[in-house]
Amino acid sequence: MATRISDQPMPRHNCPPPELAVIVPTYQESDMVDEVVRRVEAVLQGIDWELIFVDDDSPDGTSDRVRAIARQDSRVRLVQRIGRRGLSSACIEGMMSTAAPFMAVMDGDLQHDETLLPKMLEVIQAENLDIVVGSRYVSGGGMGDWNARRQSMSRFATRIGQYLIHADLQDPMSGFFLVRASVVQGCVRRLSGVGFKILLDIFAEAEHPLRFRELPFTFRAREAGSSKLDNAVLWEYLLMLTQKLIGPVIPVRFIAFSAIGGFGVFVHMAVLWPMLTLLGTDAFLISQATATLVAMTSNFFLNNILTYRDMRLRGRQLIRGWLSFVAACSVGALANVGIADYLFQGGHSGWFLSALAGILVGAVWNYAVTAVYTWKRPRAT
Ligand code: GDD
Ligand code: MN
Repeated sequence: MATRISDQPMPRHNCPPPELAVIVPTYQESDMVDEVVRRVEAVLQGIDWELIFVDDDSPDGTSDRVRAIARQDSRVRLVQRIGRRGLSSACIEGMMSTAAPFMAVMDGDLQHDETLLPKMLEVIQAENLDIVVGSRYVSGGGMGDWNARRQSMSRFATRIGQYLIHADLQDPMSGFFLVRASVVQGCVRRLSGVGFKILLDIFAEAEHPLRFRELPFTFRAREAGSSKLDNAVLWEYLLMLTQKLIGPVIPVRFIAFSAIGGFGVFVHMAVLWPMLTLLGTDAFLISQATATLVAMTSNFFLNNILTYRDMRLRGRQLIRGWLSFVAACSVGALANVGIADYLFQGGHSGWFLSALAGILVGAVWNYAVTAVYTWKRPRAT
């Protein structure tokens, strides 16, 4: 009897899979790559490892640098993402690109203490844990050279984080941890991928409460390059928390989009009022039209920076984006007024509910259309 294709044995060869994958997200770290590889190699003697850089197509040629090393050493690998940005999503994609049973996430600027890696692996196995976290806040750990403002921002974020995950984790903001692959694979579809708080997200979304331990380390000063995490990460963090609290029903981008829309009303009035004062009420139409355009434009830029931070349009794309945004929102405004008028005139609802329904339909329309036409993802085909 003929054997079926699926019954045939898999080919075997003598090439053991790595036990530990070290995932290193990078953006503009070309000067660091060599040293990261050297140090990982030195510290992981006796362990089968692979080192995966996930680079968001850094203009400084980080990807090329990694590729050059990978040509000499097959344990070093590269995921080069095109047209994408974001620390969390980079870590997730790195973790999904390996078959290793354990994976560590570590910054690519040497601020995390790589000498902790063997200990982390030893502890997770010996104590049968789900995850081991490199912590700045347990005794023996430290903050390095952070200024007071950044320290207090981090403390604030830490506190909300602890509340969110109901775990007594001292450093939920850490970007340095070693986790069992099965834990991530079990919850990866629920991870938000927005922002930079990947550890917090894993704790929040894991299928069961995680068995963890924190090991102290001192956050090193940066020797070269600069931090990529600016104030906008605090906004992203708040977005992620909002998403966790309201659940998957309402997309978090819609919340951000609506918040910016609400702010647009203030922008509108801030333009309309002085124009009317200067030009008189005869100029209402032109003033209203100007205010509308200014508000739409400011909404466009704010959404581009905040709501669609990971797909931000730049250069010539900005003009195309702005045009499509204004076109979409003009239709949205017409729909808003039309529906509110229909409901109100037809006696279906009072002025307040009519207006609210109009605003809601307009907002959903604007959001849905601009999500597809203004900030559409680059497609391979
Ligand atoms: N692929 C990719 N895409 N990597 C990125 C991006 C991005 O958009 N942004 C930053 N990175 C990389 C950096 O190149 C670096 O290797 C690492 O992520 C951390 O970024 P830094 O810009 O050096 O972060 P930091 O030093 O300010 O922040 C640290 O503190 C946080 C705790 O509050 C990091 O340790 C974070 O991991 C940590 O969460
Ligand atoms: Mn750093």
